[in-house]
Amino acid sequence: MTQPRRDFLAQAAAIAAVPLGLDPLFRAVRGAPPLRADGAWVNAALARFSDVGRTPSGINRVAYSDADLAGRAFTLDLFRDAGLTPRIDAAGNIVARVPGRDARLPAIVIGSHVDSVTDGGNFDGPVGTFGAIGAARALLAQRVPLRHPLDVVCWQNEEGGTIGSKLAVGEPVDLDGVARSGRTVREGIGRIGGDVSRLAEAVRPAGSVACYLELHIEQGGTLDRSGTPIGVVLGIVGLKWFEVTIEGFANHAGATPMDQRQDAVLAAAKFTVAVNDAIRSEPGRQVATVGRVVASPNTRNVIAGQVQLTVDLRDLDAAKVARFATRFEQLGREIGAATSTTFTFREATSSRPAMADPRVMGWIESSAGALGLSTQRLPSGAGHDAQEMAQRGPMGMIFIPSVGGISHSPREFSRPQDVANGVDVLLNTIVAADRALDA
Ligand code: HGY
Ligand code: MN
Ligand code: MN
Repeated sequence: MTQPRRDFLAQAAAIAAVPLGLDPLFRAVRGAPPLRADGAWVNAALARFSDVGRTPSGINRVAYSDADLAGRAFTLDLFRDAGLTPRIDAAGNIVARVPGRDARLPAIVIGSHVDSVTDGGNFDGPVGTFGAIGAARALLAQRVPLRHPLDVVCWQNEEGGTIGSKLAVGEPVDLDGVARSGRTVREGIGRIGGDVSRLAEAVRPAGSVACYLELHIEQGGTLDRSGTPIGVVLGIVGLKWFEVTIEGFANHAGATPMDQRQDAVLAAAKFTVAVNDAIRSEPGRQVATVGRVVASPNTRNVIAGQVQLTVDLRDLDAAKVARFATRFEQLGREIGAATSTTFTFREATSSRPAMADPRVMGWIESSAGALGLSTQRLPSGAGHDAQEMAQRGPMGMIFIPSVGGISHSPREFSRPQDVANGVDVLLNTIVAADRALDA
């Protein structure tokens, strides 16, 4: 049966449109089906990756550890398998560029991270990193030319306070801060192939980023509960992380009367309850967590002379975060006085809250719609590299459901179909952004 002349001409025009870069426009005009990536390739990579840094207590690819190095080596191979040529920049971030038709245009940047928290899961970070690689792979394989250069990035040490993306936007980073692997950031950057003497070279100057897109698991239960496949992030919470040292006086647990103690663990317990009461004393989505408590000498029959604990404080409103930070330090003084201990606060890191760009949100929603996927707008209670990159240009994040809303846990899980959906939405959002920006 001969092909109708009209279809033949339309197909010929579609093929001719590619080298002219008109194919996205052509698709849009013709209402052609949206682009699709190879979700199975991304899911296969995630499955293989789950063995890297796996321990009986969960995934442990903490920044700068041997497992992190192994995870980065795996990721470098995946970049190459996708037809990309990755390099490691001075900040230790892995970057690969897909050239655009106009090298003068600022880059569209996509990516995420592959380092994990202690005893974490396999999806927080790798879904977005491998999804970005998979989207670039689809653009190359389907010869979809972009006007803008496309940078695919694997950020280093996201879990330690979005270190790699902070360095990319020239934010201050405590190079002597100690990561969960026990290495300083300074040592770690050298270990992963960066060079702290050349950090300025890794900074993306203002005007160099057309937009930033990140695919990520939700890490909460909103999408899972509502059965919505795609989340469109409204904004990412700002955060402050404190390290609090409580000094008491170590003494004999049996021979020291209860009214003559300077018990650092008692002070820590009172402080933890007080932080929880304070953060819940007013309406809103603010959160505060005492996640790490280290007593010394941490021995059954000794009154603790010292406690080091952490406070993780977050909200979309930076002023509210600052207000609660002040309140917590006041609580430390009050509880210190009541327990004859002293509280010292050190701000380990902070990140500004960042709102997503409405245009980018619209491209995410139209891409999902074209794919027949429903969407829901929601804030991100988790921090992300996207909040640092938002300082350089319009930002958008695509969420996929976390089953049971669980994350930072070995029980973290996202379904393969949700991963594939997320990559397809990212792919079409890249094309929509490329078409609309700097037009
Ligand atoms: O801590 C966070 O919110 C992120 O997962 N790094
Ligand atoms: Mn993450
Ligand atoms: Mn995380």
